Amino acid sequence: MNRPALFLLFALCANTIAAPLDEPLKPLPTIPPQDPKRVELGRQLFHDPRLSINNTLSCASCHLLDKNGADSRAFSNGFDGQPVTVNTPTVFNASLNFRQFWDGRVETLEEQSNVVITSPHEMGSDWNTVVQRIADDTAYRQGFSAAYPDAVTRANIQSALSAFERTLLTPGSRFDQYLLGNTDILTLEEKYGYQRFKEYGCIACHQGVNIGGNMFQKFGVFGDYIADRGNPTVADQGRFNITGDEADRAVFKVPSLRNVALTAPYFHDGSAPTLERAVDVMFQYQLGRMPSEEDKTLIVLFLKTLTGQWEGKP
Ligand code: HEC
Ligand code: HEC
Repeated sequence: MNRPALFLLFALCANTIAAPLDEPLKPLPTIPPQDPKRVELGRQLFHDPRLSINNTLSCASCHLLDKNGADSRAFSNGFDGQPVTVNTPTVFNASLNFRQFWDGRVETLEEQSNVVITSPHEMGSDWNTVVQRIADDTAYRQGFSAAYPDAVTRANIQSALSAFERTLLTPGSRFDQYLLGNTDILTLEEKYGYQRFKEYGCIACHQGVNIGGNMFQKFGVFGDYIADRGNPTVADQGRFNITGDEADRAVFKVPSLRNVALTAPYFHDGSAPTLERAVDVMFQYQLGRMPSEEDKTLIVLFLKTLTGQWEGKP
């Protein structure tokens, strides 16, 4: 074969190898284009304790960005030092979830920040106070005037926070690299783990670009996890608290499994201290099956390939 023909053959092969795989899970999209001035304001606000009534808590107090975007405690403490009623989910990739919160009661990030800032259990503040404090700060006033025609308003504070949150994607996980066509990056065991994840039906609920975060499901399809755990709370009622419909009792948003190796403890009640335990519970209560130890180990190995990067760090 002459040289150009060889080159062509090589290029064709390389192309097949690097082609994205046709799989039910999808790699993360790129960060949407946004005004960098708004993103920067949002970043500052996210770290600003003046959003809480007594200047003690910023968003970053419960959503630790240098760790996992969440908290390593089962329940974070609110501004008053009292624990909140559900486990803090990560803010990483949250912009890709179809709804926000465990019970999916808000649809947008803008509305989410309204709820948390004014929640008597979390930041305990009100918009007059927040807008006043931000407008009293010269640097913020200038920043907002440059980024928004109407400067510091409640809507613009919500918009800036959301703009920042939309940048909190964690691309580059080994699994995403695999999906993008680098099939050698996973070990054989990790690939088997992914096979098991599909075969057992985890993927029926944890699916799409966020490997979860796109539907509601009952927690405890086979057996009553909450009764078995004991001490039921109002928060355990899940979407029933929103709709009042019996069918929604213990129904929650299926959480994203991206970065799941880093977000212990697990579940809305923080009741599973390890990933192994969370997978056991899923098998028993969501699938009603008892897999071999080997299959569970393989699935956990697969879940550990879902850790992505933010600002170059895992
Ligand atoms: C006191 C700790 C605490 C503080 C402070 C806090 N959060 Fe949260 N955050 C939580 C908890 C707990 C939840 C889950 C609440 C629920 O599901 O009902 C949550 C949920 C979220 C979610 C939804 C994620 C998902 O997948 O459903 C986002 C987004 C979020 N917070 C962003 C923020 C922002 C922005 C701020 C600052 C304005 C903030 N949080 C301040 C504890 C906190
Ligand atoms: C019928 C739907 C369904 C199936 C099937 C399912 N899950 Fe889940 N999964 C959920 C729901 C709902 C939750 C949230 C439960 C809660 O905290 O209230 C969850 C939570 C989790 C969590 C904890 C995530 C976190 O951040 O707290 C892990 C890990 C998990 N699932 C893995 C799996 C694995 C592995 C399988 C297969 C063996 C599986 N799931 C099968 C619906 C499902």
